[in-house]
Amino acid sequence: MKKRYSNNFAQHLTGLDRPVAGPASEPTSPRAGVTRRAVLSGIGATALLGSLRPALGAEEQSLKARAARHGITFGSAVSAASLKDFPELGAAIARDCAVVVPENEMKWGWTENVRNRPDYKASEVIARFAATSDLRLRGHTAIWYKNIPAWTKAAISGPGGHDLLVKRVHDVVGHFRGRVVEWDVVNESIEPRDGRPDGMRNWPPFAPGDIGLIADCFHAAREADPDALLFYNDYGFEYDSDDEQSRRDAAIRIMEGLKKRNAPIDGFGIQSHLKVGNRFSPDVFRQFLADIAAFNVRISLTELDVNDQRMPSDIEERDDQVADHARQFLDVAFDERAVTTLLTWGFSDASTWLNSAQPRKDNLKQRPLPLDENFAKKPLWHAIAQSLDNAPDRP
Ligand code: XIL
Repeated sequence: MKKRYSNNFAQHLTGLDRPVAGPASEPTSPRAGVTRRAVLSGIGATALLGSLRPALGAEEQSLKARAARHGITFGSAVSAASLKDFPELGAAIARDCAVVVPENEMKWGWTENVRNRPDYKASEVIARFAATSDLRLRGHTAIWYKNIPAWTKAAISGPGGHDLLVKRVHDVVGHFRGRVVEWDVVNESIEPRDGRPDGMRNWPPFAPGDIGLIADCFHAAREADPDALLFYNDYGFEYDSDDEQSRRDAAIRIMEGLKKRNAPIDGFGIQSHLKVGNRFSPDVFRQFLADIAAFNVRISLTELDVNDQRMPSDIEERDDQVADHARQFLDVAFDERAVTTLLTWGFSDASTWLNSAQPRKDNLKQRPLPLDENFAKKPLWHAIAQSLDNAPDRP
């Protein structure tokens, strides 16, 4: 078996944390890192202030450097459109990130909208940005039930569906061969609400009770790029609810099934779309991480953002609660040494999918990401920094 687990690509980053072209000093919000709760409670506030507030005039350590120190890789999703629309975004990402993932551009609907006419133009924009900014590239995603081209819809449900999906994996993973460190081979195949006994999504290609197709996708990905780490990626594992418990159970069944079929799976992606107000149980989440790690795979937190839909409009309060919520989650996550990568789903509030996917009722913009819309650090940036600083070293 290949020695994959210890092949942490954070190791390659040593010495790469040099400043990149961009503003001489980073904008820092005046409340940087100081949560209102910490100030009000007084308990532990001195310690918090000491560790979170940057020393005057000192260049703050980037998130990627803080992560790499403990064998963790930090990064973010980015879209070609946001790089174009927000000229500061590229420099901000290059400063803090070691890896990027295209938010949409590698999805099937983008790369083969017309059958047998591959179009990698948009995804190559991100790949070029990565290559010129010392960033590694994550692949997202070969198979997803959403964002598939119209021409596939009938075909994937028929007898040729299996081969069509396996070919898709081979095509996209092969196109980026040698350039992608981690691939989300299959995304979001779990949906217990669909009522199937195996907890799988009621998507025709997933034949009931059989995860043979998913296993075949992993085999195809390995063949197409033997050096990429191959991940199963999904959402809804983070909270203490019956629904999420059945999702966690289904995830364990998938891992068992894949291992039984000797599928070459290296990692499990926990999307980590958090939401303030949801019930988080450290014990429940810790146990899930341990259960996944027991399959001898690494774990990546692949799409962190914090939905503030339930919060009142006050910006300071929202930012503090978002940071607090994420820190509780990250502290537990980083305690598990199999967790070796964290990516946020976007890096600045200037561009987040949540404003269209889950808009606030008061029509204010969501504030789910580490930087605000003017690219200044928010309490969430400092919460991530602190959780990274406290993380135990990876093996
Ligand atoms: C989202 C993008 O952020 C949006 O721009 C797009 O319209 C829909 O997809 N889980 C995933 C991601 O795995 O691919 C999704 O990305 C967010 C949820």
